[in-house]
Amino acid sequence: MTDKYMQFANSAVGSKLAGLLGLPRPPVLARYQADPQKPLLDGSVVLGSAGGGALLDAVVKVLIGIKAPVLAHGEAPRWVGAANQAGLMTGRFIAPVRGEKKPANGRIKALVFDASAIEESHQLVALYHFFHDTVRSLDRCGRMIVLGRPPENCATPRQATAQRALEGMTRSLGKEIKRGCTAQLVYVATGAEAGIESTLRFLLSPRSAYVSAQVIRIGNQALPVADWLRPLAGQTALVTGVSRGIGASIADALARDGAKVICVDVPQAEAALTEVARKLDGIALALDVTAADAPEKMVAAAQAQGGIDIIVHNAGITRDKTIANMKQAQWDLVIEVNLSAQERINDALLAAGAIKRNGRIVCVSSISGIAGNLGQTNYALSKAGVIGMVHSMSTLPLLRERGITINAVAPGFIETQMTDAIPFVVRTAARLMNSMNQGGQTVDVAETIAWFACPASTGINGNIVRVCGQSLIGA
Ligand SMILES: NC(=O)c1ccc[n+]([C@@H]2O[C@H](COP(=O)([O-])OP(=O)(O)OC[C@H]3O[C@@H](n4cnc5c(N)ncnc54)[C@H](O)[C@@H]3O)[C@@H](O)[C@H]2O)c1
Repeated sequence: MTDKYMQFANSAVGSKLAGLLGLPRPPVLARYQADPQKPLLDGSVVLGSAGGGALLDAVVKVLIGIKAPVLAHGEAPRWVGAANQAGLMTGRFIAPVRGEKKPANGRIKALVFDASAIEESHQLVALYHFFHDTVRSLDRCGRMIVLGRPPENCATPRQATAQRALEGMTRSLGKEIKRGCTAQLVYVATGAEAGIESTLRFLLSPRSAYVSAQVIRIGNQALPVADWLRPLAGQTALVTGVSRGIGASIADALARDGAKVICVDVPQAEAALTEVARKLDGIALALDVTAADAPEKMVAAAQAQGGIDIIVHNAGITRDKTIANMKQAQWDLVIEVNLSAQERINDALLAAGAIKRNGRIVCVSSISGIAGNLGQTNYALSKAGVIGMVHSMSTLPLLRERGITINAVAPGFIETQMTDAIPFVVRTAARLMNSMNQGGQTVDVAETIAWFACPASTGINGNIVRVCGQSLIGA
Protein backbone atom coordinates (compact mmCIF):
# COMPACT_ATOMS: atom_id res chain seq x y z
CA MET A 1 0.00 0.00 0.00
CA THR A 2 2.98 2.32 -0.39
CA ASP A 3 3.07 4.77 -3.25
CA LYS A 4 6.55 4.05 -4.62
CA TYR A 5 6.30 6.83 -7.21
CA MET A 6 5.56 9.39 -4.48
CA GLN A 7 8.55 8.20 -2.45
CA PHE A 8 10.77 8.41 -5.55
CA ALA A 9 9.50 11.87 -6.64
CA ASN A 10 10.20 13.23 -3.14
CA SER A 11 13.74 11.84 -2.98
CA ALA A 12 16.71 14.10 -3.84
CA VAL A 13 17.43 12.39 -7.18
CA GLY A 14 13.78 11.63 -8.01
CA SER A 15 12.67 15.20 -7.46
CA LYS A 16 15.30 16.51 -9.90
CA LEU A 17 14.47 13.86 -12.50
CA ALA A 18 10.72 14.45 -12.20
CA GLY A 19 11.35 18.18 -12.69
CA LEU A 20 13.50 17.59 -15.78
CA LEU A 21 10.98 15.21 -17.36
CA GLY A 22 7.98 17.35 -16.43
CA LEU A 23 6.49 14.54 -14.28
CA PRO A 24 4.17 15.33 -11.35
CA ARG A 25 5.79 15.78 -7.94
CA PRO A 26 3.20 14.79 -5.34
CA PRO A 27 3.54 17.02 -2.26
CA VAL A 28 3.85 15.44 1.19
CA LEU A 29 0.55 16.42 2.82
CA ALA A 30 0.52 17.71 6.41
CA ARG A 31 -1.74 15.59 8.63
CA TYR A 32 -3.43 16.37 11.96
CA GLN A 33 -2.01 15.44 15.34
CA ALA A 34 -4.11 15.98 18.44
CA ASP A 35 -1.65 18.03 20.48
CA PRO A 36 -2.84 20.70 22.93
CA GLN A 37 0.52 22.48 22.52
CA LYS A 38 0.23 22.72 18.74
CA PRO A 39 -1.90 25.45 17.13
CA LEU A 40 -4.60 24.24 14.74
CA LEU A 41 -3.11 26.52 12.12
CA ASP A 42 0.63 26.89 11.80
CA GLY A 43 0.56 30.48 10.41
CA SER A 44 -1.71 33.45 9.70
CA VAL A 45 -5.13 33.75 8.08
CA VAL A 46 -5.70 36.48 5.50
CA LEU A 47 -9.28 37.62 5.49
CA GLY A 48 -11.30 39.36 2.83
CA SER A 49 -14.94 40.14 2.23
CA ALA A 50 -17.25 41.76 -0.26
CA GLY A 51 -19.40 44.59 1.00
CA GLY A 52 -20.59 44.13 4.56
CA GLY A 53 -19.56 40.46 4.85
CA ALA A 54 -22.52 39.06 6.78
CA LEU A 55 -20.48 36.19 8.23
CA LEU A 56 -17.56 38.22 9.60
CA ASP A 57 -18.83 38.24 13.20
CA ALA A 58 -19.19 34.44 13.19
CA VAL A 59 -15.73 34.11 11.62
CA VAL A 60 -14.18 36.34 14.32
CA LYS A 61 -15.45 33.99 17.03
CA VAL A 62 -13.87 30.95 15.37
CA LEU A 63 -10.55 32.70 14.80
CA ILE A 64 -10.41 33.82 18.42
CA GLY A 65 -11.08 30.20 19.45
CA ILE A 66 -8.23 28.80 17.36
CA LYS A 67 -5.89 31.69 18.29
CA ALA A 68 -4.83 32.25 14.68
CA PRO A 69 -3.12 35.53 13.78
CA VAL A 70 -5.32 37.37 11.26
CA LEU A 71 -4.41 39.85 8.55
CA ALA A 72 -7.05 41.91 6.81
CA HIS A 73 -6.91 42.42 3.06
CA GLY A 74 -8.04 45.75 1.59
CA GLU A 75 -11.20 43.93 0.42
CA ALA A 76 -12.44 43.58 3.99
CA PRO A 77 -13.75 47.03 4.88
CA ARG A 78 -15.75 45.99 7.94
CA TRP A 79 -13.25 43.46 9.30
CA VAL A 80 -11.01 45.62 11.48
CA GLY A 81 -14.05 47.06 13.29
CA ALA A 82 -15.58 43.60 13.84
CA ALA A 83 -12.26 42.18 15.03
CA ASN A 84 -11.53 45.09 17.39
CA GLN A 85 -14.99 44.83 18.87
CA ALA A 86 -14.43 41.13 19.57
CA GLY A 87 -10.97 41.79 21.03
CA LEU A 88 -9.10 39.99 18.25
CA MET A 89 -5.64 41.23 17.36
CA THR A 90 -5.45 41.86 13.66
CA GLY A 91 -3.17 43.57 11.15
CA ARG A 92 -3.11 44.50 7.47
CA PHE A 93 -2.07 42.15 4.70
CA ILE A 94 0.83 43.61 2.75
CA ALA A 95 1.19 42.20 -0.74
CA PRO A 96 4.75 40.88 -1.21
CA VAL A 97 7.02 42.86 -3.51
CA ARG A 98 8.07 40.77 -6.52
CA GLY A 99 11.61 39.46 -6.10
CA GLU A 100 11.56 40.16 -2.35
CA LYS A 101 12.62 36.97 -0.54
CA LYS A 102 11.26 37.66 2.93
CA PRO A 103 7.44 37.83 3.06
CA ALA A 104 6.21 40.93 4.88
CA ASN A 105 3.47 38.94 6.66
CA GLY A 106 5.32 35.80 7.79
CA ARG A 107 3.86 32.37 7.01
CA ILE A 108 0.33 32.49 5.56
CA LYS A 109 -1.65 29.29 6.01
CA ALA A 110 -5.17 30.26 5.01
CA LEU A 111 -7.11 32.65 2.81
CA VAL A 112 -10.72 33.13 3.89
CA PHE A 113 -13.15 35.23 1.87
CA ASP A 114 -16.67 36.11 3.01
CA ALA A 115 -18.74 36.43 -0.17
CA SER A 116 -22.08 36.18 1.62
CA ALA A 117 -23.08 39.79 0.94
CA ILE A 118 -22.62 39.52 -2.84
CA GLU A 119 -25.94 40.13 -4.60
CA GLU A 120 -24.88 40.92 -8.19
CA SER A 121 -22.37 39.35 -10.55
CA HIS A 122 -20.39 42.60 -10.94
CA GLN A 123 -19.57 42.47 -7.22
CA LEU A 124 -17.70 39.18 -7.75
CA VAL A 125 -14.65 41.21 -8.80
CA ALA A 126 -13.84 41.51 -5.08
CA LEU A 127 -12.79 37.82 -5.24
CA TYR A 128 -10.44 38.60 -8.10
CA HIS A 129 -8.69 41.34 -6.11
CA PHE A 130 -8.44 39.24 -2.96
CA PHE A 131 -7.07 36.04 -4.48
CA HIS A 132 -4.97 37.83 -7.10
CA ASP A 133 -3.13 39.69 -4.34
CA THR A 134 -2.81 36.89 -1.79
CA VAL A 135 -2.54 33.54 -3.52
CA ARG A 136 1.22 33.67 -4.14
CA SER A 137 1.77 34.18 -0.41
CA LEU A 138 -0.07 30.99 0.58
CA ASP A 139 2.24 28.46 2.21
CA ARG A 140 2.35 24.78 1.18
CA CYS A 141 -0.66 22.75 2.38
CA GLY A 142 -2.48 26.08 2.78
CA ARG A 143 -6.25 26.48 2.86
CA MET A 144 -8.59 28.64 0.76
CA ILE A 145 -12.19 28.99 1.92
CA VAL A 146 -14.95 31.03 0.33
CA LEU A 147 -18.11 31.55 2.40
CA GLY A 148 -21.40 32.23 0.63
CA ARG A 149 -25.17 31.89 0.83
CA PRO A 150 -26.97 28.82 -0.58
CA PRO A 151 -28.19 29.83 -4.07
CA GLU A 152 -31.42 27.87 -3.56
CA ASN A 153 -32.38 30.21 -0.69
CA CYS A 154 -31.45 33.49 -2.38
CA ALA A 155 -34.09 36.19 -2.67
CA THR A 156 -33.43 37.16 -6.30
CA PRO A 157 -32.19 35.36 -9.43
CA ARG A 158 -29.24 37.78 -9.58
CA GLN A 159 -28.14 36.96 -6.06
CA ALA A 160 -28.57 33.21 -6.72
CA THR A 161 -26.55 33.54 -9.93
CA ALA A 162 -23.67 35.33 -8.22
CA GLN A 163 -23.62 32.87 -5.31
CA ARG A 164 -23.71 29.86 -7.63
CA ALA A 165 -20.82 31.35 -9.62
CA LEU A 166 -18.53 30.93 -6.58
CA GLU A 167 -18.39 27.17 -7.16
CA GLY A 168 -16.55 27.55 -10.47
CA MET A 169 -13.98 29.77 -8.82
CA THR A 170 -13.19 27.51 -5.84
CA ARG A 171 -13.00 24.40 -8.01
CA SER A 172 -10.53 26.18 -10.31
CA LEU A 173 -8.48 27.49 -7.39
CA GLY A 174 -8.08 23.90 -6.18
CA LYS A 175 -6.61 22.94 -9.55
CA GLU A 176 -4.38 26.03 -9.91
CA ILE A 177 -2.72 26.19 -6.52
CA LYS A 178 -0.95 22.85 -6.16
CA ARG A 179 1.57 22.28 -3.31
CA GLY A 180 -1.01 20.38 -1.25
CA CYS A 181 -3.30 23.41 -0.90
CA THR A 182 -7.07 22.96 -0.83
CA ALA A 183 -10.00 25.21 -1.82
CA GLN A 184 -13.57 24.91 -0.54
CA LEU A 185 -16.90 26.68 -0.80
CA VAL A 186 -19.12 26.78 2.28
CA TYR A 187 -22.72 27.91 1.86
CA VAL A 188 -24.15 29.13 5.17
CA ALA A 189 -27.93 29.55 5.38
CA THR A 190 -29.31 32.71 6.97
CA GLY A 191 -29.71 31.99 10.68
CA ALA A 192 -27.04 29.26 10.65
CA GLU A 193 -24.08 31.64 11.06
CA ALA A 194 -23.28 30.37 14.56
CA GLY A 195 -23.06 26.83 13.14
CA ILE A 196 -19.83 27.32 11.17
CA GLU A 197 -17.25 26.54 13.84
CA SER A 198 -16.81 22.78 13.41
CA THR A 199 -16.63 23.20 9.64
CA LEU A 200 -14.07 26.02 9.72
CA ARG A 201 -11.95 24.13 12.23
CA PHE A 202 -12.04 21.05 9.98
CA LEU A 203 -11.35 22.87 6.73
CA LEU A 204 -8.60 25.11 8.14
CA SER A 205 -6.72 22.27 9.81
CA PRO A 206 -4.65 19.38 8.38
CA ARG A 207 -7.66 17.14 9.13
CA SER A 208 -8.96 18.03 5.67
CA ALA A 209 -5.64 17.20 3.95
CA TYR A 210 -7.21 15.21 1.09
CA VAL A 211 -10.55 17.08 0.83
CA SER A 212 -10.58 19.74 -1.87
CA ALA A 213 -13.00 21.57 -4.17
CA GLN A 214 -15.99 20.61 -2.07
CA VAL A 215 -19.24 22.52 -1.65
CA ILE A 216 -20.52 22.23 1.91
CA ARG A 217 -23.93 23.41 3.07
CA ILE A 218 -24.59 24.50 6.67
CA GLY A 219 -28.29 24.85 7.38
CA ASN A 220 -28.64 25.11 11.13
CA GLN A 221 -27.19 26.35 14.41
CA ALA A 222 -24.82 24.13 16.40
CA LEU A 223 -24.56 22.58 19.82
CA PRO A 224 -21.62 23.78 21.92
CA VAL A 225 -18.40 21.76 22.30
CA ALA A 226 -16.65 21.94 25.67
CA ASP A 227 -13.30 20.49 24.58
CA TRP A 228 -12.29 20.63 20.92
CA LEU A 229 -9.59 18.01 21.53
CA ARG A 230 -12.22 15.50 22.69
CA PRO A 231 -15.52 16.67 21.17
CA LEU A 232 -17.07 13.17 21.41
CA ALA A 233 -16.31 12.64 25.11
CA GLY A 234 -19.09 10.59 26.72
CA GLN A 235 -20.52 9.49 23.37
CA THR A 236 -20.94 6.02 21.89
CA ALA A 237 -20.35 5.18 18.23
CA LEU A 238 -21.08 2.03 16.25
CA VAL A 239 -18.87 1.50 13.20
CA THR A 240 -19.10 -1.35 10.67
CA GLY A 241 -16.21 -2.93 8.74
CA VAL A 242 -13.65 -2.09 11.43
CA SER A 243 -11.14 -4.95 11.29
CA ARG A 244 -8.93 -3.13 8.74
CA GLY A 245 -8.63 -0.30 6.21
CA ILE A 246 -10.80 2.79 6.41
CA GLY A 247 -13.01 1.28 9.14
CA ALA A 248 -10.07 0.75 11.53
CA SER A 249 -9.06 4.41 11.01
CA ILE A 250 -12.63 5.63 11.60
CA ALA A 251 -12.83 3.74 14.90
CA ASP A 252 -9.43 5.14 15.84
CA ALA A 253 -10.39 8.78 15.08
CA LEU A 254 -13.71 8.55 16.93
CA ALA A 255 -12.01 6.97 19.96
CA ARG A 256 -9.30 9.68 19.88
CA ASP A 257 -12.09 12.27 19.91
CA GLY A 258 -13.51 10.66 23.06
CA ALA A 259 -16.13 8.14 21.88
CA LYS A 260 -16.63 4.57 23.07
CA VAL A 261 -16.67 2.53 19.85
CA ILE A 262 -18.70 -0.61 19.16
CA CYS A 263 -16.65 -2.26 16.41
CA VAL A 264 -18.49 -4.51 13.94
CA ASP A 265 -17.05 -6.84 11.31
CA VAL A 266 -17.72 -10.29 9.86
CA PRO A 267 -17.10 -13.33 12.10
CA GLN A 268 -14.25 -14.43 9.73
CA ALA A 269 -12.36 -11.24 10.71
CA GLU A 270 -12.99 -11.66 14.45
CA ALA A 271 -9.32 -11.90 15.48
CA ALA A 272 -8.37 -8.60 13.78
CA LEU A 273 -11.62 -7.01 14.96
CA THR A 274 -10.99 -7.94 18.59
CA GLU A 275 -7.47 -6.52 18.36
CA VAL A 276 -8.74 -3.16 16.98
CA ALA A 277 -11.43 -2.97 19.68
CA ARG A 278 -8.95 -3.90 22.43
CA LYS A 279 -6.52 -1.14 21.44
CA LEU A 280 -9.30 1.45 21.54
CA ASP A 281 -10.89 0.14 24.71
CA GLY A 282 -13.95 -0.48 22.56
CA ILE A 283 -16.43 -3.34 22.15
CA ALA A 284 -16.04 -6.01 19.45
CA LEU A 285 -19.21 -7.33 17.80
CA ALA A 286 -18.55 -10.06 15.21
CA LEU A 287 -21.51 -9.79 12.90
CA ASP A 288 -22.25 -9.93 9.18
CA VAL A 289 -24.29 -6.80 8.44
CA THR A 290 -26.33 -8.74 5.88
CA ALA A 291 -27.41 -11.43 8.37
CA ALA A 292 -31.16 -11.56 8.94
CA ASP A 293 -30.73 -10.85 12.65
CA ALA A 294 -28.05 -8.12 12.21
CA PRO A 295 -30.44 -5.16 12.74
CA GLU A 296 -31.83 -6.75 15.89
CA LYS A 297 -28.33 -7.54 17.25
CA MET A 298 -27.15 -3.99 16.55
CA VAL A 299 -30.17 -2.52 18.32
CA ALA A 300 -29.39 -4.76 21.31
CA ALA A 301 -25.70 -3.70 21.28
CA ALA A 302 -26.72 -0.04 21.09
CA GLN A 303 -29.30 -0.36 23.87
CA ALA A 304 -26.79 -2.14 26.10
CA GLN A 305 -24.84 1.15 26.05
CA GLY A 306 -27.95 3.25 26.71
CA GLY A 307 -28.23 4.09 22.98
CA ILE A 308 -25.67 5.30 20.46
CA ASP A 309 -24.80 8.81 19.32
CA ILE A 310 -23.14 7.88 16.05
CA ILE A 311 -23.48 5.09 13.50
CA VAL A 312 -20.99 4.82 10.65
CA HIS A 313 -21.92 2.48 7.79
CA ASN A 314 -18.45 1.74 6.47
CA ALA A 315 -18.55 -2.01 5.63
CA GLY A 316 -18.40 -2.35 1.87
CA ILE A 317 -17.23 -4.73 -0.81
CA THR A 318 -16.50 -4.81 -4.54
CA ARG A 319 -17.14 -7.65 -6.99
CA ASP A 320 -15.93 -6.01 -10.20
CA LYS A 321 -16.96 -7.41 -13.59
CA THR A 322 -18.48 -5.86 -16.69
CA ILE A 323 -22.24 -6.37 -16.60
CA ALA A 324 -22.08 -8.95 -19.40
CA ASN A 325 -19.66 -11.08 -17.39
CA MET A 326 -21.16 -10.48 -13.95
CA LYS A 327 -22.95 -13.30 -12.13
CA GLN A 328 -26.19 -12.39 -10.37
CA ALA A 329 -24.65 -13.52 -7.06
CA GLN A 330 -21.95 -10.83 -7.47
CA TRP A 331 -24.59 -8.21 -8.20
CA ASP A 332 -26.75 -9.26 -5.25
CA LEU A 333 -23.96 -9.45 -2.69
CA VAL A 334 -22.60 -5.95 -3.39
CA ILE A 335 -26.03 -4.35 -3.16
CA GLU A 336 -26.88 -6.29 0.01
CA VAL A 337 -23.67 -5.28 1.87
CA ASN A 338 -23.27 -1.74 0.53
CA LEU A 339 -26.87 -0.54 0.49
CA SER A 340 -29.78 -2.77 1.58
CA ALA A 341 -28.19 -3.77 4.90
CA GLN A 342 -27.70 -0.09 5.78
CA GLU A 343 -31.36 0.65 5.07
CA ARG A 344 -32.53 -2.20 7.32
CA ILE A 345 -30.12 -1.25 10.12
CA ASN A 346 -31.12 2.44 10.02
CA ASP A 347 -34.81 1.54 10.09
CA ALA A 348 -34.34 -0.80 13.06
CA LEU A 349 -32.20 1.63 15.08
CA LEU A 350 -34.60 4.52 14.46
CA ALA A 351 -37.72 2.45 15.20
CA ALA A 352 -36.21 1.30 18.50
CA GLY A 353 -35.13 4.84 19.41
CA ALA A 354 -31.57 3.48 19.72
CA ILE A 355 -29.99 6.57 18.10
CA LYS A 356 -29.97 9.33 20.69
CA ARG A 357 -31.13 12.93 20.16
CA ASN A 358 -28.65 14.97 18.08
CA GLY A 359 -27.33 11.65 16.77
CA ARG A 360 -25.29 11.18 13.62
CA ILE A 361 -25.72 8.70 10.77
CA VAL A 362 -22.67 8.69 8.51
CA CYS A 363 -22.48 6.63 5.34
CA VAL A 364 -19.58 5.74 3.07
CA SER A 365 -20.31 6.24 -0.61
CA SER A 366 -17.65 6.49 -3.35
CA ILE A 367 -16.76 8.67 -6.31
CA SER A 368 -17.77 5.59 -8.33
CA GLY A 369 -21.31 6.32 -7.19
CA ILE A 370 -20.99 9.83 -8.64
CA ALA A 371 -19.12 9.17 -11.89
CA GLY A 372 -19.66 5.45 -12.54
CA ASN A 373 -16.73 3.18 -13.26
CA LEU A 374 -15.88 0.48 -15.76
CA GLY A 375 -16.63 -2.95 -14.30
CA GLN A 376 -18.50 -1.49 -11.34
CA THR A 377 -22.18 -1.34 -12.34
CA ASN A 378 -23.10 -3.14 -9.11
CA TYR A 379 -20.74 -1.14 -6.86
CA ALA A 380 -21.52 2.27 -8.42
CA LEU A 381 -25.24 1.52 -8.22
CA SER A 382 -24.95 0.67 -4.53
CA LYS A 383 -22.88 3.79 -3.79
CA ALA A 384 -25.21 6.07 -5.78
CA GLY A 385 -28.02 4.48 -3.78
CA VAL A 386 -26.23 5.54 -0.58
CA ILE A 387 -26.29 9.14 -1.86
CA GLY A 388 -30.01 8.81 -2.56
CA MET A 389 -30.56 7.42 0.93
CA VAL A 390 -28.68 10.32 2.53
CA HIS A 391 -30.58 12.96 0.57
CA SER A 392 -34.00 11.42 1.16
CA MET A 393 -33.51 10.57 4.83
CA SER A 394 -32.06 14.00 5.65
CA THR A 395 -35.50 15.53 5.12
CA LEU A 396 -37.43 12.95 7.19
CA PRO A 397 -39.45 14.63 9.98
CA LEU A 398 -38.43 11.79 12.32
CA LEU A 399 -34.76 12.74 12.00
CA ARG A 400 -35.40 16.48 12.09
CA GLU A 401 -37.49 16.24 15.27
CA ARG A 402 -34.68 14.34 17.03
CA GLY A 403 -31.90 16.53 15.60
CA ILE A 404 -30.34 13.48 13.91
CA THR A 405 -28.26 14.26 10.83
CA ILE A 406 -27.28 11.97 7.97
CA ASN A 407 -24.33 12.65 5.66
CA ALA A 408 -21.88 10.69 3.54
CA VAL A 409 -18.27 10.74 2.54
CA ALA A 410 -17.43 9.76 -1.04
CA PRO A 411 -13.80 8.62 -1.03
CA GLY A 412 -11.70 8.65 -4.18
CA PHE A 413 -8.55 6.54 -4.36
CA ILE A 414 -7.59 5.63 -0.79
CA GLU A 415 -4.59 3.41 -0.01
CA THR A 416 -6.14 0.19 1.37
CA GLN A 417 -6.17 -3.54 0.69
CA MET A 418 -9.25 -2.89 -1.49
CA THR A 419 -7.31 -0.56 -3.84
CA ASP A 420 -4.14 -2.65 -3.54
CA ALA A 421 -6.00 -5.32 -5.51
CA ILE A 422 -6.30 -2.95 -8.53
CA PRO A 423 -3.84 -3.78 -11.38
CA PHE A 424 -0.57 -1.78 -11.08
CA VAL A 425 -0.96 0.48 -14.14
CA VAL A 426 -4.57 1.43 -13.33
CA ARG A 427 -3.59 1.95 -9.69
CA THR A 428 -0.71 4.29 -10.57
CA ALA A 429 -2.92 6.30 -12.96
CA ALA A 430 -5.68 6.53 -10.34
CA ARG A 431 -3.21 7.86 -7.78
CA LEU A 432 -2.06 10.64 -10.07
CA MET A 433 -5.44 11.75 -11.47
CA ASN A 434 -6.24 14.33 -8.82
CA SER A 435 -5.02 17.76 -7.71
CA MET A 436 -2.80 16.18 -5.03
CA ASN A 437 -1.22 13.68 -7.48
CA GLN A 438 -1.46 10.90 -4.89
CA GLY A 439 -3.86 8.51 -3.20
CA GLY A 440 -5.46 9.47 0.09
CA GLN A 441 -4.80 7.80 3.45
CA THR A 442 -7.49 6.00 5.44
CA VAL A 443 -7.15 8.70 8.11
CA ASP A 444 -8.35 11.33 5.60
CA VAL A 445 -11.73 9.59 5.35
CA ALA A 446 -11.80 9.07 9.11
CA GLU A 447 -11.17 12.76 9.87
CA THR A 448 -14.02 13.78 7.58
CA ILE A 449 -16.35 11.37 9.35
CA ALA A 450 -15.20 12.68 12.74
CA TRP A 451 -16.15 16.20 11.59
CA PHE A 452 -19.66 15.01 10.56
CA ALA A 453 -19.92 13.24 13.94
CA CYS A 454 -18.99 16.31 15.99
CA PRO A 455 -21.84 17.66 18.19
CA ALA A 456 -21.18 21.11 16.69
CA SER A 457 -21.92 19.78 13.18
CA THR A 458 -25.69 19.88 13.77
CA GLY A 459 -26.11 22.20 10.80
CA ILE A 460 -24.52 19.76 8.37
CA ASN A 461 -27.23 17.49 7.05
CA GLY A 462 -27.69 15.76 3.69
CA ASN A 463 -24.14 16.63 2.57
CA ILE A 464 -22.00 14.36 0.38
CA VAL A 465 -18.36 15.32 0.82
CA ARG A 466 -15.76 13.78 -1.45
CA VAL A 467 -12.43 12.75 0.06
CA CYS A 468 -10.61 12.46 -3.23
CA GLY A 469 -7.93 15.17 -3.50
CA GLN A 470 -10.13 16.75 -6.19
CA SER A 471 -10.14 13.67 -8.38
CA LEU A 472 -10.75 14.26 -12.06
CA ILE A 473 -13.17 11.32 -11.99
CA GLY A 474 -16.71 12.64 -11.72
CA ALA A 475 -15.45 16.17 -11.08
N1 LIG B 1 -10.36 2.21 -0.54
C1 LIG B 1 -10.90 3.07 -1.37
O1 LIG B 1 -10.22 3.66 -2.21
C2 LIG B 1 -12.38 3.37 -1.30
C3 LIG B 1 -12.89 4.29 -2.20
C4 LIG B 1 -14.25 4.61 -2.15
C5 LIG B 1 -15.05 4.02 -1.20
N2 LIG B 1 -14.53 3.09 -0.34
C6 LIG B 1 -15.45 2.50 0.63
O2 LIG B 1 -14.89 2.59 1.93
C7 LIG B 1 -15.36 1.51 2.73
C8 LIG B 1 -14.16 0.81 3.37
O3 LIG B 1 -13.31 0.37 2.32
P1 LIG B 1 -11.84 -0.22 2.54
O4 LIG B 1 -11.03 0.21 1.39
O5 LIG B 1 -11.37 0.04 3.92
O6 LIG B 1 -12.16 -1.78 2.33
P2 LIG B 1 -11.58 -3.06 3.05
O7 LIG B 1 -11.96 -4.20 2.16
O8 LIG B 1 -10.16 -2.88 3.40
O9 LIG B 1 -12.45 -3.10 4.38
C9 LIG B 1 -13.83 -3.35 4.38
C10 LIG B 1 -14.22 -3.95 5.71
O10 LIG B 1 -15.61 -4.25 5.68
C11 LIG B 1 -15.81 -5.54 6.22
N3 LIG B 1 -17.03 -6.14 5.69
C12 LIG B 1 -17.26 -6.55 4.42
N4 LIG B 1 -18.47 -7.11 4.34
C13 LIG B 1 -19.01 -7.06 5.57
C14 LIG B 1 -20.25 -7.50 6.11
N5 LIG B 1 -21.16 -8.14 5.35
N6 LIG B 1 -20.49 -7.30 7.42
C15 LIG B 1 -19.57 -6.65 8.21
N7 LIG B 1 -18.39 -6.23 7.74
C16 LIG B 1 -18.11 -6.44 6.44
C17 LIG B 1 -14.57 -6.31 5.77
O11 LIG B 1 -14.38 -7.50 6.53
C18 LIG B 1 -13.49 -5.27 5.96
O12 LIG B 1 -12.98 -5.29 7.27
C19 LIG B 1 -16.19 0.63 1.81
O13 LIG B 1 -17.54 0.95 1.95
C20 LIG B 1 -15.69 1.03 0.44
O14 LIG B 1 -16.65 0.77 -0.56
C21 LIG B 1 -13.21 2.76 -0.37
